[in-house]
Amino acid sequence: MRKLGMNELRTEFLEFFKEKNHNILESFSLVPVNDDSLLLINAGMAPLKDYFTGIKKMPRNRAASSQKCIRTADIDMVGKTARHGTFFEMLGNFSFGDYFKKEAIAWAWEFMTKVMEIDPEILWVSVYEEDDEAFDIWHNEIGVPKDRIVRLGKEDNFWELEVGPCGPCSEIYVDRGEKYGCGDLDCKPGCECDRFMEVWNLVFTQFNKDENGVYHPLEHPNIDTGMGLERLALVSEDVNNIFEVGVIRNIISTIEELSGKEYNKDERVDESIRVISDHVRAIVFLVSDGVVPSNEGRGYVLRRLIRRAIRHGRLIGINDEFVTKVAKPVIDSYKGNYPEIERDQERIFKIIIAEEDKFRETIIQGLERLNSLIEMYDKKALKTIDGKEVFRLYDTYGFPPDLTKEIASENQLEIDETGFHEMMKEQRMRSRESRQDDGGFHSSEIIIETELKNTEFTGYNNMMEQASILEIYKDGVMVESLSEGDQGAIITDKTCFYAESGGQVGDIGTINTTGGKAKVLDTQKNASGAVIHYVEVMEGIIRSNESAGLLVDEDARKATMKNHSATHLLHKALRKVLGEHVNQAGSLVDKNRLRFDFSHYEAISKDQLMEIERIVNELIENNLKVTFNEMSLVDANKMGAIGLFEDKYKDIVRVVAMGEQSIELCGGTHVNQTSEIQMFKILSESGIAAGVRRIEAITGHNVYNYLNNLQNNLEIIAVNLKSNLNDVVKRSQHIVEELKEKEKQIEKIKLSLKSSSIDDILKGVAEVQGIKILTHKFDDVDMDTLKKLGDQIRDKIGSAVVVLASQMDGKVTFLATVTKDLVKEGINAGNIVREVSKIAGGNGGGRPDFATAGGKDVSKIGEALNTVIKLIEMGINK
Ligand code: ALA
Repeated sequence: MRKLGMNELRTEFLEFFKEKNHNILESFSLVPVNDDSLLLINAGMAPLKDYFTGIKKMPRNRAASSQKCIRTADIDMVGKTARHGTFFEMLGNFSFGDYFKKEAIAWAWEFMTKVMEIDPEILWVSVYEEDDEAFDIWHNEIGVPKDRIVRLGKEDNFWELEVGPCGPCSEIYVDRGEKYGCGDLDCKPGCECDRFMEVWNLVFTQFNKDENGVYHPLEHPNIDTGMGLERLALVSEDVNNIFEVGVIRNIISTIEELSGKEYNKDERVDESIRVISDHVRAIVFLVSDGVVPSNEGRGYVLRRLIRRAIRHGRLIGINDEFVTKVAKPVIDSYKGNYPEIERDQERIFKIIIAEEDKFRETIIQGLERLNSLIEMYDKKALKTIDGKEVFRLYDTYGFPPDLTKEIASENQLEIDETGFHEMMKEQRMRSRESRQDDGGFHSSEIIIETELKNTEFTGYNNMMEQASILEIYKDGVMVESLSEGDQGAIITDKTCFYAESGGQVGDIGTINTTGGKAKVLDTQKNASGAVIHYVEVMEGIIRSNESAGLLVDEDARKATMKNHSATHLLHKALRKVLGEHVNQAGSLVDKNRLRFDFSHYEAISKDQLMEIERIVNELIENNLKVTFNEMSLVDANKMGAIGLFEDKYKDIVRVVAMGEQSIELCGGTHVNQTSEIQMFKILSESGIAAGVRRIEAITGHNVYNYLNNLQNNLEIIAVNLKSNLNDVVKRSQHIVEELKEKEKQIEKIKLSLKSSSIDDILKGVAEVQGIKILTHKFDDVDMDTLKKLGDQIRDKIGSAVVVLASQMDGKVTFLATVTKDLVKEGINAGNIVREVSKIAGGNGGGRPDFATAGGKDVSKIGEALNTVIKLIEMGINK
């Protein structure tokens, strides 16, 4: 067998299938596009479903790839076996209605025995129990002896996802020898141990499974194969498990360094090291593909992986922030094939660190809480942790329920998942109520199940179209007509209405027939590309098969187009000012405004924001010509087009260029010249998730309205300040200064009012052992004033101990001054004020001649001041 590393294996595999006339595809993003049935890409075929069903076509009906995948179903097994990982690459060759079983089997065998030079004697295969055809090909044509072909049931040898292309399969196993086995005499492919390593799965895709679990035979059978790259490397390098293969062995070394623990000494430590080495790879690729930690969906998978990695770090003694330190060797190992992770390193690290910090703050408390719970349940011999507790750990300490479950199960406890979900539901309802969601009914939320596909869109240049009504729906059910007052959906053969996509909202407008008139409230597109107009009938009756005049609300569309074109210019300006790492993360464009979300890890300064705005306005002023071209993705890449992931894997893409300044993949509607945008004004900039910022802005007439509004407000302010627009700024500055001056005067007056009563206050001077003592309580005098009063009183008496108190906002402030002569005699203001304030529940101190203190108990002020005389009498302060 040839000993090849992961990188060489990947190349050998793709080269092999390239020679067999396959399109070689780059790995797709881990985030599925237009596929709600899947959280993350978990197989090479997952991003290619539409090619298997025939909705999309490739230039050649054969392809091969090495696809990044994440599977979390067996997350608990990671680190425990040789072969389980959440992150892996899947090598695959695919036939879209082209070759079938015979070729797939022959080529797989050729690759294993000729390219990899694996001894055929150690190869085993399995087939679906009823698949005699596959059995015969393996035995008669390839020559695999019957005793090394195993027939297995649906569970093992029928491959399917929740939804999509699927079928019976045949798997290739490598016998790694008894040293990796379980010792069972019956051990053979299908056994759970690590001896027979399943490396390659050949799926004979014959069905398409729908959302209801119904299998529909496909017009042409396909081939979908998948081979774990790490597993193949494990076999080739003959190492213990997928984490020890050469290219990624440095990840383990880094974890050894960080933990000070040696790998291969203690099985529990090894398990944690393997978990970390797996999870950090998954984390790096998820963040690189735009996922950010959250409590839902993909974001939750990421959060869970980060938190599991941290927990396993703690188990082996890594208590400091460390995930990015492990991410570094991950990036080094993979950057050759995935340069984007190195380019994006800074952003990836920032997001990981932010999440790690967040969790670290609470993990210690959370773990303590959980440990004491476990102890308590143990004592009471209870087996299931209450749902409320699980929720509390989640809500207060950020413990994902899966993590609680995992720790609980290590302690032979279960968690009450139903109870937890109930609590979650309640919380969601609470927050919905607090958001005062309008809860309104939107007809466009109704799912329309139509067989129609790909409605022709004629609206890039037209706002009017004469079309035929093909189908009408009311409450989601197909009907013949809609009458006045009805809400429903209309599908036509072609349309000038833009259906919501790429962040641009669906068009509104009207549909007119000879018998009726309907208002279009929204336009949407289903997964097969049928455009659905959601309508309310205003007059008469609208019937199927009628001819209809479609009219887009031109004002709304034009305003939307300006905003959409401005997002492209904004994207350009952001990259120019902030850097090329800025990537679009989402957008929303309607007639009122635009919202643009993008990757960047810190707040944007005022200067940068002004520069961004200036550049966009300059590009508008330059009156760039906007051009639209359809071309192959390769050509678009050559032009340097940027765009969202979802656009990157279409065969033919639409490229929107604005002069030479902005070139983007985009299906939206745009102005023809940038000057039509008129003007661009940023309204806000904010952070919406770790590493994602949002800019909201307006264009065109909306800027005019905005300016008018500002001017109106300014005029009102000017009138109120008895000024005019030209002078209002100066006037306001003047007023602010005047106010400050007046405040000062008020302070002075207040002081002099108090001072004028100083003579009265001085009447309260007492004398003890020849020392003059004055105590007095003021109301609502702040510390500054109190100091000034203290100085005045002291100066007036000449030689004295003065202790003042002021009651303000429910608290008390004490101040003591002692004249120099008395200080010489050993009287100490600091000691006096400390003793005095103690009585009022406070403390403080200071110099021998001057000291201040606070106190909480205002009812004790009198008592506190009275002690001054006693203190002097008793010589306590001396
Ligand atoms: N889609 C098949 C799998 O993932 C090849 O095993």
